[in-house]
Amino acid sequence: MSGRKKLIFANWKMHFSVKQATAFAKKLSEKKIDEGVVVAVAPATISLSPVSETLAKCDIATIAQNGYHRDEGAFTGETSMPMLRGIAKFVLVGHSERRHVFNESNELIRAKMSAAVRSGIKPILCIGETLMEKEHYHTSTVISSQLEVGLADLTSDEVGDAVIAYEPVWALSNGKDFSKHKMPAPDDIKKAVDLIRGNIKELYGIDAASKVKILYGGSSNADNATAILSVNGLDGLLVGGASLGVATFWPMVEAAGRVYKDNLTDKK
Ligand code: PGA
Repeated sequence: MSGRKKLIFANWKMHFSVKQATAFAKKLSEKKIDEGVVVAVAPATISLSPVSETLAKCDIATIAQNGYHRDEGAFTGETSMPMLRGIAKFVLVGHSERRHVFNESNELIRAKMSAAVRSGIKPILCIGETLMEKEHYHTSTVISSQLEVGLADLTSDEVGDAVIAYEPVWALSNGKDFSKHKMPAPDDIKKAVDLIRGNIKELYGIDAASKVKILYGGSSNADNATAILSVNGLDGLLVGGASLGVATFWPMVEAAGRVYKDNLTDKK
């Protein structure tokens, strides 16, 4: 799939005060992004607005880490998808920490997916198996069912516009040790990517399957970025721990630029 842009999306999770997030965004905004690379960052909700203002004049987009499935009402502490409009271009839906720490169900995730689409925010549906599911050979069943339920209310066009992040729960670094944590081999990532596109093709047709963007997330870093980004059919990375500093994050953006260029040369 040469010629497709590489997406490097940063998930800052619950890190950085508003001041720190804004200062970090300012540093990123001064960097030059190579052709063929799309960069976006997901600050905590409280920093979304100042970060998106800081990034307004550069090509880095903002991602909300979460959004509620109801548009407004008595839901203390929540932020609705319409409230994110104009501030975040994307929203993470069903991140493994939302599923496993906050007990979000596939059904809630399904409702959040349609709320995002209804509000014009591009959803990034996060899916992936736990260690136990992997050890019991349930990876494909889990991926397929998370995908099927999460996308259930979307049309083929909406699925084609969405982003899927394959993030095996056991490979997430939790911000620590992202350079030496266990993670799948590129061949296993390729299998997951093929399974995701295969499922989408079956349910939504070939156009949606080829248009949908697929990211990998879980202990990606500057050392493994090139190998992962070279997986055929993969569009990019959702980076946690390694996205928290310019020195660990920007080499990944540069690696994406090189992989994009190499793919173009291979095509000629
Ligand atoms: P990690 O996190 O890169 O720190 O493993 C990725 C994520 O949770 O999105």
